[in-house]
Amino acid sequence: MSHKIILDTDPGIDDAMAIFFAFQSPEIDVLGLTTVYGNVPVEMAAQNALTLCELAGQDIPVCKGVGMPWVGKESGYAHFVHGDDGFGNINFPPATNRKLDPRSSAQFIVDMARQHPGEITLVAIGPLGNLALALRLEPELPKLVKGVSIMGGAAFVPGNVTPVAEANIWNDAFAAEIVFAADWEVTMFGLDVTMTVPFSLEFLDTLKRNNQKCGGFVHDAAQFYVDFYSQNREQRVCFFHDAMPIAHLVDPSLFELKRGHARVSTDPLNIGQTSIAPPNTTTSADWLNARQVNVAVKVDSKRLTQLYTDTYSLS
Ligand code: BDR
Ligand code: CA
Repeated sequence: MSHKIILDTDPGIDDAMAIFFAFQSPEIDVLGLTTVYGNVPVEMAAQNALTLCELAGQDIPVCKGVGMPWVGKESGYAHFVHGDDGFGNINFPPATNRKLDPRSSAQFIVDMARQHPGEITLVAIGPLGNLALALRLEPELPKLVKGVSIMGGAAFVPGNVTPVAEANIWNDAFAAEIVFAADWEVTMFGLDVTMTVPFSLEFLDTLKRNNQKCGGFVHDAAQFYVDFYSQNREQRVCFFHDAMPIAHLVDPSLFELKRGHARVSTDPLNIGQTSIAPPNTTTSADWLNARQVNVAVKVDSKRLTQLYTDTYSLS
């Protein structure tokens, strides 16, 4: 079965790995890339997305989206994780043959959803401002899309920016609250699963061997990313968070999901926390009124890794 997706992204090294994985997957039809600030400023995210498309030989729309959080001032970026260029400082030449679509990311999402009602899964692998804005532009959006798959949050495990918050949700918590509360089917791939699958240097070598162009790019860019993730660890590894929601579309049997009522905290101390109350664990009206989402709680790391390496080797 083929899945039409719009990939909302802030490239970013694991974003690049996820984008190429989506392009390589025969089951995934990427209608466009919508970009958002997050790992890098939005201008850089948009240019990086064009560069990845050109490298992969993909001529699909790429849009620039929101550059600021829903509430509050411009955020700090994650250059210490992804490098000054978002690609691990590898000095990769920017796209020369690709231009941005003139529409905003949110407008593109709305236009595509109207054009393909009920068919598109929004896959968000950065902060959620574009999706929140699309909901404001088209309040019927939840009826027009098939579902929303998010890399973000930490349901039953600690955060990676604060003790309780994961980066994508923390970066735009007010937008995340809007997205989690909307009347659509949200599936969340948070640190509960993404931090359980460390990827070794051998994995990066295999990606490069299997796919010189895209795998080679990920291999080279990820060396900086590995340096970040290997601090205070015995093994040199990194975590490809962003590919998981796409892997789930390709093969749902890789994951175990739980349902639960979801809340995103916006108070200063807990900002960006995703709290999940499984059904029948509370009688509190505040919690019972919160929408239920699907939360990935387990992943088969061996089969997931095999899926990535096999997919990168497809021509
Ligand atoms: C998320 O934050 C970003 O650094 C990654 O690209 C990923 O989307 C992980 O917390
Ligand atoms: Ca990302």
